Amino acid sequence: MGHLFNRNVLLGVTGGIAAYKSAELVRQLQERGATVRVIMTRGAMEFITPLTLQALSGNPVHTELLDEEAEQGMGHIELARWADLLLIAPATADLIARLAAGRADDLLTTAALATAAPLMLAPAMNQQMWRDPATEANISTLAARGYHLVGPAAGEQACGDIGPGRMEQPVRIAEAADQLFPSGLLTGKRVVITAGPTREALDPVRYISNHSSGKMGYALARAAAEAGAVTTLVSGPVSLPVPDRVRALPVESATDMLQQCLDLLGDCDIFIACAAVADYRPSAMEQQKIKKGPEEITLQLVRNPDIVAAVASSEQRPFTVGFAAETNDVLNYARDKMQRKNLDMIVANDVADRSIGFNSDQNAVTVLWRNGEQALPRAGKDSIARQIIELIAQLGGKR
Ligand code: PMT
Repeated sequence: MGHLFNRNVLLGVTGGIAAYKSAELVRQLQERGATVRVIMTRGAMEFITPLTLQALSGNPVHTELLDEEAEQGMGHIELARWADLLLIAPATADLIARLAAGRADDLLTTAALATAAPLMLAPAMNQQMWRDPATEANISTLAARGYHLVGPAAGEQACGDIGPGRMEQPVRIAEAADQLFPSGLLTGKRVVITAGPTREALDPVRYISNHSSGKMGYALARAAAEAGAVTTLVSGPVSLPVPDRVRALPVESATDMLQQCLDLLGDCDIFIACAAVADYRPSAMEQQKIKKGPEEITLQLVRNPDIVAAVASSEQRPFTVGFAAETNDVLNYARDKMQRKNLDMIVANDVADRSIGFNSDQNAVTVLWRNGEQALPRAGKDSIARQIIELIAQLGGKR
């Protein structure tokens, strides 16, 4: 379950062609555990029927400000108080202008003024309307008042124009809404995560490495920070932005990574080894570029230190989680690795399937611990990371 679990989302739908996507948005929000109630403007009802959104949300749809019957049920003030989030998607240029002016001329704008909940907008309009100075000024006003914005995306529009103004995809809007609510599962915990590949230098310009992109490790760092942990990433060379509220310490080789991790042990409650560390390095790095010569040359390699095993056998041992990248007999090898390296938990990753391993956007893993295991079916790496963090919080976060 996401951070929207048990949250009340009041979804405002306004009159634009993207209103049909609100049906999918209702489902996305519900999948994350939110209860959804919908307010539709008159314009919205020209594009999608209240019945559709009522059937999907499982709650009556609210449309009128001055409706005696509706006000007796859940009136505009109750709705505004009920909401943990007021999310308006799509938000038209007109609605944005009315919000910026502080109008309360229909149920949705009145609820926006009356609520103390955070407000999020997913704008959707023609690209020229989005670029118009009036809309720009209105958006700046709302952003300064603390409104959260998601999108718009750019691309081909229903009117045939190309540019920014398409409503962001429902899944992205739901993710952004999810991010507004910290889970607090790891508040006060200090988490260190290794991510990415290591590079083992052969000479000043060449190295041995692997295909790790860092996506899984960075997603874990994002999820740990969202869960309230003080989060440090010890990262091999990757080209990813550092997530908000995460401290990143760049390293190159396995030896550098080991040293950095050992230096952090005094400030670490939970250690997660997601990096794809090179098991071997050249026995010596040539000081000059190796020249092309004979048809065959032999590289002499020596074993690298095992970082996660070193952490797990240290005096200041944190709750220690490893990954196991395997191509066959995945669970048996992973359980064996967990025992040999003295880990509390291991995440078994079948990297034979290239769509869920190195450099993929999705993953599917099985998390193993001493007395149990849980399969996490295929999902985006952010979603997998959140589920791993939840398991860590349940099993080890309380130590
Ligand atoms: O970065 P991405 O592109 O998103 O890909 C994610 C991933 C596939 C790299 C990730 O999900 C993953 O499986 N990481 C572990 C990769 C790995 O090297 O696995 P391993 O089975 O060889 O190592 C087992 C464990 O020991 C790992 O926790 C590893 O970090 C650790 N290890 C390994 C060798 C070493 N010298 N020191 C270590 O700490």
